[in-house]
Amino acid sequence: MLRRSLDTLPASRIREVANAALGRDDVLKFWFGEGDLPTPAFIRDAAKAALDAGETFYNHNLGIGELRESIAGYLNRLHAPQIPIGVDRVAVTSSGVSALSLVAQSLFDPGDRVAIVTPVWPNVTAQPRIMGAEVVRVPLACNAGRWTLDLQRLLDAAPPGTRAVVVNSPNNPTGWVMPQDDWNVLLAHCRRHGIWLIADDPYERLIFDGSAHAPGVLAQVDPDERFISANTFSKSWTMTGFRLGWLVAPRRFIADLAKMVEFNTSCAPTFIQRAGITAIKGGDALIAETRARLQASRDALVGQLARLRGVECAPPEGAMYLFFRLQDRSDDSLACAKQLVAQVGLGLAPGVAFGPEGEGYLRWCFAAQRSLIDDGVARLARFLG
Ligand SMILES: Cc1ncc(COP(=O)(O)O)c(C=O)c1O
Repeated sequence: MLRRSLDTLPASRIREVANAALGRDDVLKFWFGEGDLPTPAFIRDAAKAALDAGETFYNHNLGIGELRESIAGYLNRLHAPQIPIGVDRVAVTSSGVSALSLVAQSLFDPGDRVAIVTPVWPNVTAQPRIMGAEVVRVPLACNAGRWTLDLQRLLDAAPPGTRAVVVNSPNNPTGWVMPQDDWNVLLAHCRRHGIWLIADDPYERLIFDGSAHAPGVLAQVDPDERFISANTFSKSWTMTGFRLGWLVAPRRFIADLAKMVEFNTSCAPTFIQRAGITAIKGGDALIAETRARLQASRDALVGQLARLRGVECAPPEGAMYLFFRLQDRSDDSLACAKQLVAQVGLGLAPGVAFGPEGEGYLRWCFAAQRSLIDDGVARLARFLG
């Protein structure tokens, strides 16, 4: 029924595990990428107030001016770029995934080569494939308890003529963070060969080394070069259900993007955008709190798993996921995830959902209360016998 290029797109393996648990209310759900706390009241109140004020109409394709300005201001404060980011480089989107989809639709023709660091959240590789691009996967490796990228391998995978390189750091699902030196070399490579560099940045604030944000090149690029950052309110501001994101891109790209937004969503809802403005205004404490909570959960989870025999894991440097394996048990990660649900009510995402490099692993989203994490570890211990 679908276009030929869509035939080979796998259905979500995470959904497949979640469906296997339908009708059971005793399953601990660590499979999706969101926390267990609702969006803070001050942000919800801003959306409610805008609704009550009747802000229920169509709006600008690229977002309301006030939100674009507050995103630009936020990024200028956070990154202190050499050339301040102007509003003309910012577009509001209806979520991070919509931002990625708009980029794919705007840049990729059938057959274009796109090199992507993997394993990665499946939407990142699916979007270029939907456009018929050729995705070249560059796998991370887990060495001595750390996820690492062989940078030369990424550069080799992006020879002249490559359309784009996509990097998601901090990475979903491994928590890998690309070091600044690697970013610099990659930017130089992309500049030399006219390759678009696309940073998928939803976790840039969720990093556990004390920095305000993850390494990257947003601060170095000039307003017209081929660099795009896709971002979202979902993770750092606990706003997954609001579906609000943004893009920073070259000025001409943003001007042209208006028509792509028109043909997709036309605009993000105004009352949701009002919530975004309030989130940025009052968000510093929230982000600090979110990060501290995640770090404590990560430490508790990693510490407890280290005491279980047969569990191999590399502590994530950022994001909100632990990607780990069970010796001799998780080689078929989908089967293992289903067994975990059936036998002990533990809901994890199978590593294969993030690509063939993820096979053998399980992903645990640790954006959860401590008591749930403790219960989850106890269930895993029971499973391992
Ligand atoms: C790597 C990555 N990119 C982008 C997104 C987009 O998030 P959203 O569509 O909720 O804004 C996610 C969400 O899980 C993600 O993990």
